[in-house]
Amino acid sequence: MKVLIINGPNLNLLGVREPGIYGSRGFEDYLAELNNRYSGDVAIEYYQSNHEGGIIDKLHENGFGQVDGIVLNAGAYTHTSVAIADAISAINTPVIEVHISNVHKREEFRRHSYISPSCIGVIAGFGLDSYRLGIEAIKEIQKKK
Ligand code: DQA
Repeated sequence: MKVLIINGPNLNLLGVREPGIYGSRGFEDYLAELNNRYSGDVAIEYYQSNHEGGIIDKLHENGFGQVDGIVLNAGAYTHTSVAIADAISAINTPVIEVHISNVHKREEFRRHSYISPSCIGVIAGFGLDSYRLGIEAIKEIQKKK
């Protein structure tokens, strides 16, 4: 099975950025753990961009059978981007929306997601483990096919 993880804006700064909210571990380090855990089972591709268009292009490139599922943390674009929502709706690959923090426990503006209605489901608030839970969700979806 192939899964693509997409991280949006500012998530390249994980480990340094607001550690009280996002933790003190860099994503590359966590990704190595994920790859270890799923080796021989799930091939994980990773893409990060601070640009809306980059995320949209990546969704298009992987939206038609290239991977079995996409785990997407769109960062702040979650709360602003109709264009990313439209891209998710336009593709066939299942997309799971994930957030490290519990966005419902934070500022009011983080409670609304433009992308949730286009995604299969949402995982939020489990720290970096939200990504693993996203992969598990994709494994279950593929099992049922
Ligand atoms: C986030 C939550 C968003 O509100 C925020 O803009 C982020 C990260 C999270 O993973 O908790 O950049 O998506």
